[in-house]
Amino acid sequence: MAELSRFNAFFVENLLVWYARHKRDLPWRDTQDPYKVWISEIILQQTRVDQGLPYYLRFLKTFPKLKHLALADEQAVLSIWQGLGYYSRARNLHQGAKQVHVDNRGEYPSTYEDWLKIKGVGTYTAAAIASFCFKEQVPVLDGNVFRVLSRVFGISEDILSGKGKKVFWGKAMELIPAATPDIFNQAIMEYGALHCTPKSPDCEQCVFNKMCFAYKNNLVGELPVKLKKLVRKSRFFEYHVFLFNKSILFKKRGKGDIWEGLNEFPLVEKKKADDLLKSSPQSIKLKSLFTSEVLKHVLSHQDLYCVFKVYEVKNKVDWAALIKQWEADPVALSKITPIPKPVLLTKFLNTYFMPM
Ligand code: ADE
Repeated sequence: MAELSRFNAFFVENLLVWYARHKRDLPWRDTQDPYKVWISEIILQQTRVDQGLPYYLRFLKTFPKLKHLALADEQAVLSIWQGLGYYSRARNLHQGAKQVHVDNRGEYPSTYEDWLKIKGVGTYTAAAIASFCFKEQVPVLDGNVFRVLSRVFGISEDILSGKGKKVFWGKAMELIPAATPDIFNQAIMEYGALHCTPKSPDCEQCVFNKMCFAYKNNLVGELPVKLKKLVRKSRFFEYHVFLFNKSILFKKRGKGDIWEGLNEFPLVEKKKADDLLKSSPQSIKLKSLFTSEVLKHVLSHQDLYCVFKVYEVKNKVDWAALIKQWEADPVALSKITPIPKPVLLTKFLNTYFMPM
């Protein structure tokens, strides 16, 4: 027991010293404002800091306070989110902001348990906000933290299993100091992000190398253990790009699939790749302008293969018929930039059509 606590104390002390010297100066670290920390943590889920930072700054410029976000139109929120992916994060954040602004009359939850009741806030985000803003002694467990703990302390439980999560939580609870849970949490994430990296960490220069289980046992490449493999799915999208009088047809995507709430061109989903190359009969006589090559677009769990078929519509009557048939909305070409849409469509428009 004495050995264990000596080990733990050495880890915490050296981690905090390392952090004081090496931490990056990031804007969400200068604040205990729950709104700002909330925004930063949602943006930083599945997004690197260098990629997320400009989004964070833009988001706060557009929605400086909770009320601005809560009262905003969903399309405006998605528009700021364009390019970050995982759009359900933005929609849930928006819903969560409404919940705090309206249901809680603008009063933020102050505990881990109460943050978990907010839409889109899971265990990681609740722990981050509760510890950073309210100094609650609750550990953040993200990929960086799993990596550091599993390697240094030799934890070989699967990080995605229920049991694994409990073991990591228990270890982190042993370590997290009562007085500075905020700094400890930031520090361990930073150590994983900057030093104990997934590939080729610089173990020679690591402050923990004398105690690190993985280093001593040549298991750095093996830890952490992550067993569940994602099953990837391929999908085949045929987009119809209808043009008339400098306008184009857009359609909002529905619920329960990728890109919920974003706008796209009328879409026919096909069963297999070959179907994308076949000609597609139209109910109205149209002038085919061109067909793009098949573009591959990679999402976290899906590979999309997409073709864009571009048509010119001949007259107003046909245009009205297409709008009705596809339940789509015409948008002037000069107005399409701020429309929230998947990056794939922006790329298509940039490459094949017009600079945006
Ligand atoms: N990644 C997720 N949260 C972070 C934070 N608060 N600081 C740096 N990187 C992070």
